[in-house]
Amino acid sequence: MRMVLLGAPGSGKGTQGEKLAAHFGIPKVSTGDALRAAVAAGTDLGRKAKRAMDAGQLVDNEIVIGIVEERLAQPDAAKGFILDGFPRNTAQAQVLDAMLVRLGQPAIDKAVHLQVDDEEIIKRLLDRAHKEGRADDKEDVIRKRIRVYNDETHPLLDYYRAQNKLVAVPGVGAVDEIFQRILRVLKH
Ligand code: AP5
Ligand code: MG
Repeated sequence: MRMVLLGAPGSGKGTQGEKLAAHFGIPKVSTGDALRAAVAAGTDLGRKAKRAMDAGQLVDNEIVIGIVEERLAQPDAAKGFILDGFPRNTAQAQVLDAMLVRLGQPAIDKAVHLQVDDEEIIKRLLDRAHKEGRADDKEDVIRKRIRVYNDETHPLLDYYRAQNKLVAVPGVGAVDEIFQRILRVLKH
């Protein structure tokens, strides 16, 4: 299974990605998690990424593409992976397709769109801000992230629809219920 999780900030990509990775026994690859680890470690890459992340903007394509290529080249990703937060624009999606060819891997099987409305997203992320204090979970930055998603990432729905790979799942309700919905649509 080679899967892309698509959805707005806070739509549950990380939450469902963990469950899918455990279910299929394959790694979850999250560019957001990798970037936050780089920021926490204070690497050059982390310093470059932090400014864009704190503003709710996308980090440069070259940086995230480098992270993904390095990760997908590792042996545990050879039999599949769950991508969370990548690709995020059409250029990244095209590079990903070419990367899989270069790595000698089969193409992406499915792109799963987690559908959640803006009001619910803002509620979830403000709630997480209280619990975890993630630097980009501030209301103005959350709204910016939603705008960036609509402008740059939303077009990927058409990209994967055109390849007959897109499936949509309502992302509201209990976490386990949503997980079962995803497993059901994957069977079709
Ligand atoms: P990234 O880390 O990918 O953040 P995001 O897309 O904004 O999404 P989140 O991680 O906030 O939400 P999620 O969809 O994973 O949902 P989650 O499961 O956590 O990216 C962060 C930044 O890094 C970007 O803004 C950008 O700067 C940079 N970046 C990353 N990838 C990049 C790329 N490819 N190119 C360029 N830049 C990139 O859930 C959210 C909350 O809701 C949690 O608290 C969770 O517990 C809760 N929750 C989950 N499910 C439910 C449910 N069913 N009901 C109620 N609450 C729920
Ligand atoms: Mg996430």
